[in-house]
Amino acid sequence: MEDIREKVILVGVDTGVADDYDVCMQELKSLAEACHMQVVGILTQKMEAANKALYIGTGKVEELRELAKMTDAELVVFEDSLTPSQLRNLKDECKLPVMDRTNLILDIFASRAKTREAKLQVEVARLKYLLPRLVGLHDALSRQGGASGSMSNKGAGEKKLELDRRKIEHRITELSKELETVSTERRTQRKRRRNSGIPQVSLAGYTNAGKSTLLNTLTNSDIYAKDQLFATLDPTTRQLTLPNKQEIIITDTVGFIQRLPHQLIAAFRSTLEVVTEADLLVHVIDVSHELYKEQATAVHEVLKEIGAETKPVITVYNKIDKLPPDSKLADRLALEEDTVCISAAKKLNLESLQQMIESHLKSKAVEVTLCIPYAETAKAAQLHETANVLEQEYTENGAVMKVILPVEDLEAYNEYILKSE
Ligand code: GTP
Repeated sequence: MEDIREKVILVGVDTGVADDYDVCMQELKSLAEACHMQVVGILTQKMEAANKALYIGTGKVEELRELAKMTDAELVVFEDSLTPSQLRNLKDECKLPVMDRTNLILDIFASRAKTREAKLQVEVARLKYLLPRLVGLHDALSRQGGASGSMSNKGAGEKKLELDRRKIEHRITELSKELETVSTERRTQRKRRRNSGIPQVSLAGYTNAGKSTLLNTLTNSDIYAKDQLFATLDPTTRQLTLPNKQEIIITDTVGFIQRLPHQLIAAFRSTLEVVTEADLLVHVIDVSHELYKEQATAVHEVLKEIGAETKPVITVYNKIDKLPPDSKLADRLALEEDTVCISAAKKLNLESLQQMIESHLKSKAVEVTLCIPYAETAKAAQLHETANVLEQEYTENGAVMKVILPVEDLEAYNEYILKSE
């Protein structure tokens, strides 16, 4: 099939304040490509602050129109989140469809959403994005109405806006209710898992860093891992037995990017709770990416935003197989604390990662051998629920169980301890 891609021009304002302008534009390009677009031009305006009415200056808008003509562009994508009036003015001025970064990300999320929960989350985020922008749409309509000089047209436009607004608000309420039901089910599932005493490890990382590949490799499963942004939107959970027989629950979740639109963070709240509730985070970084440091910073920022910045973290530099053979980068990075360099795809250094996870979790759990008398079978049953039972043997004194227990539960079993490691 012929690969027909929409031709787009990317536009950004470089205020010179942060030195991450190039990073943002490069990311915008990846986002556009992820949305099946072909970037035919990039326009940058250096100015102290974005123009309130048009985001860029009027001269630059003229340049944009010229560039669009020359390149046959079909769409203009702006780097920032545009205000409703900027969006409306730019549509008028550019004579081309216009979208902003948030819109682009919402489109990608919409195309990747697979489960009911992800679809609901994206839909709510899209509608919340659309709601304040309806006014722009309405103004454009009533201006057309105004040209005919008819007041009744204006009234009709306003009524239509009010109706559309109410429809959307109603839909948001309905979808949010449905989402709450789905999210509650997910929370109950997670609570059950937490109560089982099995530690929860959550993979976090920039989109495309290799989280799904790592989860697949570690658990020999077959999760969708693809060279595209945001391949995963739904948390995928697997059970993994570490080399020391410790069982853990490991979850892959939505990829992060810089300035993840707040509508999405809000809508994906229940998905992101997997990260905030984890006992340990594994931050996966694509070290072969030229902007890996910036991507890692972006992940730290999202973690902060969702209240997970104080979680214990293991930093995993992935894709070391892609580094040039003479690169000393991995050797240098491996010296950092709580850090390991791996290749998830080539299965390099995965034992070191697993050992690091083990030693992090050890401080939260203890391995003990208990003898539970037969008169206390309820205690034994409870252990199966709340601890990780490694071995069990029936002796004349009772059930002898080798278990890994959360430190806080130890006291309840003090009298049965035969041996602690
Ligand atoms: P999102 O779902 O967008 O968050 O992505 P992700 O972090 O889950 O990344 P994913 O596992 O889908 O991998 C992205 C791409 O990187 C895929 O094409 C993988 O095959 C590739 N990849 C992952 N790990 C490695 C690695 O160690 N080496 C190499 N060369 N490629 C890798």
